[in-house]
Amino acid sequence: MLTQFSFHAPSFVLAERNGCAKTGGLLKSYGAAGNVLLVCGSKTSELGLLVPVIDSIRAEGLKPVVFDKSQPDAPVEVVREGIRIAQKEGVSAVVAFGGGSAMDTAKAIACMVHLEGDVLEYCRGSLAPSPRKCLLFAIPTTCGTGSEATDIGVVLDRHGPYKYIFANPFAGPDVAILDPLLLRSLSPQMIAATAMDAFSHSAEAYTCRGANVMMEPLALCSMRDILTFLPKALAAADEERLDAVERLLIASCMAGQAFTQVGLHLGHAIAHGIGVHGHVHHGAACALALPYALASVSGEIPNRIRTVGELLGVTFPSGCAASEIGRLVGEELLRFNRSVGINSLSQYGVTEDMLDAIAEYAVHEEGTQGNAYRPSHKEELVAYLRGIM
Ligand SMILES: [Fe+2]
Repeated sequence: MLTQFSFHAPSFVLAERNGCAKTGGLLKSYGAAGNVLLVCGSKTSELGLLVPVIDSIRAEGLKPVVFDKSQPDAPVEVVREGIRIAQKEGVSAVVAFGGGSAMDTAKAIACMVHLEGDVLEYCRGSLAPSPRKCLLFAIPTTCGTGSEATDIGVVLDRHGPYKYIFANPFAGPDVAILDPLLLRSLSPQMIAATAMDAFSHSAEAYTCRGANVMMEPLALCSMRDILTFLPKALAAADEERLDAVERLLIASCMAGQAFTQVGLHLGHAIAHGIGVHGHVHHGAACALALPYALASVSGEIPNRIRTVGELLGVTFPSGCAASEIGRLVGEELLRFNRSVGINSLSQYGVTEDMLDAIAEYAVHEEGTQGNAYRPSHKEELVAYLRGIM
């Protein structure tokens, strides 16, 4: 039922150019003292993007401790090392600085720092979540994850291989800082992939079982803005490019706020399979999975799929059947993907022999499959994946 829901926005959001220089002041006002753990990837710290954050933290008499070992997909070994450092340093706050993986790593560290037990027990639910004892801030440097506004995290166990999803009220950042100046060195490929991740968040949230009238405006506005500003961000330069990237960063945060309410569905189930078995960037995997996710539920929710299609500019003939709506929207999404440089699975190194394992993974991802109006069928999914090779 669209009108029966709970709604919460976990994070205070500051959107401001050079807003990252306010990190220290905001940490202090939220009660941080002593050591603050900064979680990022090694490239981020090499680029010098952290300097204004570190300076602002020092200016408030706090001590930054940099953990720059975050890796794509937040491998559990890295998370464990971060937890050990946070415990040893007795940090009062964890600041995530980077893309989705840095935020996932930081979330797991902040949630685990006061707990005894292993992070995989936490992810599997055998170690119960409890209120954090430290602050959690998030500063995104891509325009796609939306993780700064969600109470959801992902940790990769390479031995599964399996991506564990944890979601609880304590995993949401207290503060999110959206500073578009941090995205100036983002490549066109990364802008496209991360923006399509955000688009998938909104499109899947809008078309999942839990969708409700309260999160709809966030989902619809973010989809509209991504379709408008992603092509501009890729085509423009200088100030015009920065304006477009800024809108994508905000749209990504809106998408995060939308999907943290209701979850995602088939697109992310498939994208996780593509990520685990094909090692494809999450955003590109989402972009390629979404056409199937939307088309396959058009029989159950044709009007919602049609609305997404109208945002994409699809013109539907009168009396258009539900299956035709799904086909037209799927085709238009694939065309939009190609227009931003996301063409095929093989482009990212996926080979035919991986498709069975990807589909097998996707159909067994309970959290996301269970949120779909219609679960995936393995043979159907393999056929789709073969078609976008
Ligand atoms: Fe995603």
